Amino acid sequence: MIPPKPPSRPDRVSLWRYMQLFRQDILSAQPARLYRAWMAEFRTPFFRSYLMNQPELVKTVLKDRPDDFPKSDRVGEGLRPLLGNSVFLTNGEVWKRQRRIIDPAFEGGRLRETFPAMWDASEAAAARLPEGLVEIEEQTSHAAADVIFRTLFSIPIEDALASAVFHEFRTYQRSQPILNLAAFVPLPRWMPRLFRRETRASAARIRGLIGQLVDRRAEDIAAGAAPDDLATKIMTTRDPVTGATFTPEEMVDQVAIFFLAGHETSASALAWALYLMALYPEWQEKVAAEAQALVACDFAVMSKLPVTRDVFRETLRLYPPVPMMVREATCPERFRDRDVRRGSQLVLSPWHLHRHARLWDRPDDFDPGRWQTENGRRCGRDAYIPFSAGARVCTGAGFAMVEGPLILARLLRDVVVSPVEGRVPVPVAHLTVRARDGIWLNLAKR
Ligand code: HEM
Repeated sequence: MIPPKPPSRPDRVSLWRYMQLFRQDILSAQPARLYRAWMAEFRTPFFRSYLMNQPELVKTVLKDRPDDFPKSDRVGEGLRPLLGNSVFLTNGEVWKRQRRIIDPAFEGGRLRETFPAMWDASEAAAARLPEGLVEIEEQTSHAAADVIFRTLFSIPIEDALASAVFHEFRTYQRSQPILNLAAFVPLPRWMPRLFRRETRASAARIRGLIGQLVDRRAEDIAAGAAPDDLATKIMTTRDPVTGATFTPEEMVDQVAIFFLAGHETSASALAWALYLMALYPEWQEKVAAEAQALVACDFAVMSKLPVTRDVFRETLRLYPPVPMMVREATCPERFRDRDVRRGSQLVLSPWHLHRHARLWDRPDDFDPGRWQTENGRRCGRDAYIPFSAGARVCTGAGFAMVEGPLILARLLRDVVVSPVEGRVPVPVAHLTVRARDGIWLNLAKR
């Protein structure tokens, strides 16, 4: 038995059919050969794109020469009304300055300071869990959003402003279903700019609410009464080069991306992890046994969850929340004996790389034990990029690798999850990898 994998399309389809498939879901719009190919070319009337699966090529683009392969503008088009000039969308000097201010807040030692807020969120998530038939993505979204509010602003999701932001984000996501696809779909450049009115209005409301959080915090900082959380750390950090801090407007941009990048992704990973635990009860029992160590809020407890961590890593391999990323070639290149023109779109696909048939042993199997094998270790270094890699690596990677295993273990300490007959989730790529009709599980108290 292998865990759910979307069907691939036939090798050859018309451009029109490809566009239709794409609109439905980018994962099932791709041919099966991408799980074996080192590089593939897509020609469209408007531009060319290349999918890169060869570890050396991925390394060139992400790690060795990131400045030559900036983020493609096309990716940002669907997100700009919400994210403004956030670190997720910028390039060049602006991006470098933003990372200089943000990165220190997420450094290893600081994670320890953030841990109590995560712990409280994990307790709250466990207390909220219902019994019986449950759609688990809803639960994990709630939990991951709570983690962000608690770590960033020291408020729980029940706070009136926090809960307003959370609900407004849901409206936004519903009104903006083809996010991110502009980079691959052969549409003229102006098309994705025609945002629906509702999407724009919703983005404006979210930014207004976040603005209130930021203003409130700026006042607390000025009064010397601010809690020492991520928002305070970021808002009081001066750029070591220029000495400037973020303006309130820039901070709103960053908070919007922390919320979006930090909650959608973790929610997706946690939901798939719980589904996999239902499919593989022997692993679920191992996680539940480790979870007995979670008795008091102490960062050291994380070192007692090695199996849970491997389970979470394996989940990120099979269901990478960000399935594909896009970069743009700023100069002509020659890759694998092919001329890649300037302006070409380069697609890096954790989804395909993580299941590559020429790299991984039993690529579609769920086996957390693989991380202790020679093949697993090698592929972990060369062919595993759930958080991307290089200079633009996810700022929240370390954060997510604490949050994910902690919440997974905490929930399984209290409940046993089992699959629901007839409800096999079908992975589809929305903003992150989700299940077409949600992920349904049976929950029973342990
Ligand atoms: C399992 C959880 C997560 C996954 C799988 C994930 C994955 C990723 C990936 C793949 C990227 C690169 C996207 C690209 O280059 O196109 C990224 C960027 C980013 N992520 Fe995460 N992320 C996670 C959690 C978080 C959290 C918790 C935060 C913050 C609290 C966060 C903040 C960011 C930011 C700010 C960026 C932009 C970095 C830049 O472009 O310089 N992420 N994430």
